Amino acid sequence: MPDPDMFNEITAIYPGSFDPATLGHLDIIERASRLFPRVLISLSEGSNSKQFAFSVQERLEMLDRIVAPFDNVTATSFSGLLTRYARQEGSMVLIRGLRAISDFEYEFQMASMNKYLANEIETIFMMTSPRYHYLSSSIVKEIARLKGDIAGLVPPELRDDIEAKFK
Ligand code: PNS
Repeated sequence: MPDPDMFNEITAIYPGSFDPATLGHLDIIERASRLFPRVLISLSEGSNSKQFAFSVQERLEMLDRIVAPFDNVTATSFSGLLTRYARQEGSMVLIRGLRAISDFEYEFQMASMNKYLANEIETIFMMTSPRYHYLSSSIVKEIARLKGDIAGLVPPELRDDIEAKFK
């Protein structure tokens, strides 16, 4: 039987690329902050093969701004394996948002690989709120590039930076 006090100490990590963070990410951050005593929003410094529009510094600075209202949430970045970083931080919970069935295969593979690498770490999936099911960082960048209105898609404090990037 686990010690019930351990639940007061859990650090959850919500990892991602956040290129840039959207209202869908913010929704997960807000809900995770109510479930866990300490939450790290952890930006991967880019071990995957994606091309990013925003630098690590820009993305981290934007994350800092959107987590500022949450006392128990901190923005961090990490390089290398997520599971190694989670162990360093003493975290046994990874959070990922799931929008649609199309996300599942990639997420299932990642969660399974992370489980293989660190069996004690659990991935917990949170369903994205229905109003954000269609939202992704890629689609936000495309709309911004084509000078569409991104006001209802990204946290208000990031809007100017995102529009400026695609001027
Ligand atoms: O927002 P994303 O791009 O879907 O996030 C993917 C991310 C950053 C969580 C993933 O690529 C990752 O964990 N990268 C760190 C390197 C790592 O641990 N890779 C093995 C995971 S299977």
